Amino acid sequence: MALKDIFRRKPIAKTIQQGGDGEEFTVLHRVLTVRDLTFFGIAAIIGGGTFSAIGNACFSGGPAVILLYIICAIACGFTAMCYAEFASRVPVSGSAYTYAYVSFGELFAWIIGWALIMEYSIGNIYIAFSWSGYFTNLLESAHIHLPDWLTINYRAAHQAFAEGKAGEGMLAWQNAPMIGSLRIIFDLPAVMINLLITYLVYRGTKESKNFSNAMVVIKLLIIILVIAVGFFYVDIENWVPFMPKGFGGVMAGVSAVFFAYIGFDAVSTLAEESKNPQRDLPKGMIYSLVICTALYIILALVLTGMVSYELLGVSDPLAEIFALKGVKWMLFIVSVAAVVAMTSVMLVFQLGQPRIWMTMSRDGLLPRRFSSIHPRFKTPGFATIVTGVVVGLPIFFTDENFVLDFTSIGTLFAFVLVCGGVLVLSPQSEEELSERQARGKFRIPYINSKYIFPGIVAISAIAVYTLFPGYFSETFTISGGKVTNKVSMIIFFLFCIIMAIVAFRKNLSLIPLLGLVSCCYLLTGMALSNWIWFGVWLLLGLVIYFGFSRRSSKLNTQA
Ligand code: ALA
Repeated sequence: MALKDIFRRKPIAKTIQQGGDGEEFTVLHRVLTVRDLTFFGIAAIIGGGTFSAIGNACFSGGPAVILLYIICAIACGFTAMCYAEFASRVPVSGSAYTYAYVSFGELFAWIIGWALIMEYSIGNIYIAFSWSGYFTNLLESAHIHLPDWLTINYRAAHQAFAEGKAGEGMLAWQNAPMIGSLRIIFDLPAVMINLLITYLVYRGTKESKNFSNAMVVIKLLIIILVIAVGFFYVDIENWVPFMPKGFGGVMAGVSAVFFAYIGFDAVSTLAEESKNPQRDLPKGMIYSLVICTALYIILALVLTGMVSYELLGVSDPLAEIFALKGVKWMLFIVSVAAVVAMTSVMLVFQLGQPRIWMTMSRDGLLPRRFSSIHPRFKTPGFATIVTGVVVGLPIFFTDENFVLDFTSIGTLFAFVLVCGGVLVLSPQSEEELSERQARGKFRIPYINSKYIFPGIVAISAIAVYTLFPGYFSETFTISGGKVTNKVSMIIFFLFCIIMAIVAFRKNLSLIPLLGLVSCCYLLTGMALSNWIWFGVWLLLGLVIYFGFSRRSSKLNTQA
């Protein structure tokens, strides 16, 4: 088999024939409308990022964290349009994986599919941990106290013990029962919620859909209530200083803030269960992203306006602000909302993962069993159970910070390839374009970036140079300190210059180009350790690809 085979692309027509129109494989129920898809988007977006991770992001960035929310919203907005373009052209399950297959070829498709495990499965581990925190609060308010060693993960307890930090972790370590020299410490509610979600998803999308829609309504109403009540406690003094730890402090929250936006793309995994995917998937993605962006920016303003940012570095900041202000009745409501919100996020992601695997299996890149459909429930049963195991097992040996960073870097990487994929998609003929328009299918507006993008790069460089004197000399002088950040910024600057030249010469489409560049910019905020783990993960993926998937790929027999 020639090495160039790893870049062979799957023809779009064949992709749609196999997955989109129900002829060869599709036996999933087509039940979802644009409203359901928007609800799925919101169900996936508002969760652990909003109820937990926002606290540390505010703590490190101060009130200026809203800038990061705006930057992430811009990056995700452009990316959502790229997802929408693909969803309209290739309306089958598999999300970014499928899109990479038709634009970059098999190897990249595999890499994306592999990276998406970080978004869908590893992301759910973070949410399971956060869910457990709020659920335990609720139990406490009903005077039910679980032993400490059943409400914390092993790593966190071990760390508390090693650092001699009093509190829940230390108590768990001291009181845990032992088998030989091993302490039994694990997060029981996190394990239980994963089992429940796996069961629901296994039973079928329709049941899950109704459940999910109800949860979305509840969480939206309660977030609006938090904003409305919190508004009366805003003291504008708290917005000064605006950027207490500089822009570096703001960017330190990038994993947490970006995590809060992840989820709009999960809508694209439901292509085969929606009634009119080419028209409705793009709408569902974009509507849900717009609604959540507006809520986030207002929420971040209210949060940092209510108390000093220094008090927000906790895992339950939305409860904390009301505790600090003595608004006790809100505490209970916020905890219920958090539990509901995070349940719905987990549901959407645990629906999405098996569907991506199902598509990879149809292509021969994963064993056949991953695409087997349950005869009665019409869901990818085996892949659903494997997802439950992939989420459930690490709950016993990871902690929340690790999985948060890991999820964000993997998802950003997938977004970069989706935006890049739209840039390299072959242009459609006039006939195809008018057919799309006539049927109301989404199409990304073409704006020539020839002069605009180089102009944006030049203006940004001048603005940074004028507004932050010394920025370039600091960035380009590598002398210890934050070497990773500097290296990644230098690479980013060079990348922008190269893309400006390519844009000028090839008349690239502006929207995917801005998506690509803004996601790359967010990647510059990732820590070195995060890059190393990500590299290890990719290597492992490559070993599996070259060891199994490349040989079993269906393109071998279909070529
Ligand atoms: N955006 C999702 C959340 O915050 C992943 O839980």
